[in-house]
Order: sequence, then C-alpha cells, then structure tokens
Amino acid sequence: MNNWIEVARLQDIPPLGSRVVRTPGGDVALFRTTDDKVYAVRDHCPHKGGPLSQGIVHGQAVTCPLHNWVIELDSGQARAPDEGTVACFAVEVREGAVWLALA
Ligand code: FES
Repeated sequence: MNNWIEVARLQDIPPLGSRVVRTPGGDVALFRTTDDKVYAVRDHCPHKGGPLSQGIVHGQAVTCPLHNWVIELDSGQARAPDEGTVACFAVEVREGAVWLALA
C-alpha cells in the first residue's frame, strides 16, 4: 500500500530542474519538465550510483552527470545501448502541491 506524503510545492522545483527528498529508504529526486510534469525516481543512477538529481533534464529524460547515461523518467529505464533501471515512484501535483507515494 502506498503512503502519500506532501513533499514540495511545484514552484519549488525549477522547470528542467530537480529537488531531492530525503526518505527512510534513501533520497528521491523530483524532476520537473517544461510542461510541468513531475517525475520521481531514486536519486541513484543504475550505472554506478551517480546523483541523477544533478543531471540535465531534457524531454521526459535526465542525463546522469557522471557518465551521461540517459534515464527515461516515466519508466526509470536507461536508454539503449545502456541497460539498467532505477526505481520510480508515483507522484501527483494537486493544487500546486507535489505528493509522493512511498511503498
Ligand atoms: S553513474 Fe550514471 S552514467 Fe555512470
């Protein structure tokens, strides 16, 4: 069962930027796209654990700052030819507040 918690205001996350939420299970990176969609993934690249929150957001993806793997934000999957997946979390924006679902 998911536990929904309010973690930020949408305006706290810059467009094409990120914000880190500390959770008991580890840091979660929130990303905001130019069309104000918000995605949440573990802040830990599936390659060698780089901080995805410090990567560059483009479209619905983020490029890891360490070795440039591209991670799809909707699935957590690394873009081919790289292989790997980072955990994704459900996230919703309700009246300007960002809610995160933790298992
Ligand atoms: S740690 Fe992210 S690409 Fe290597």
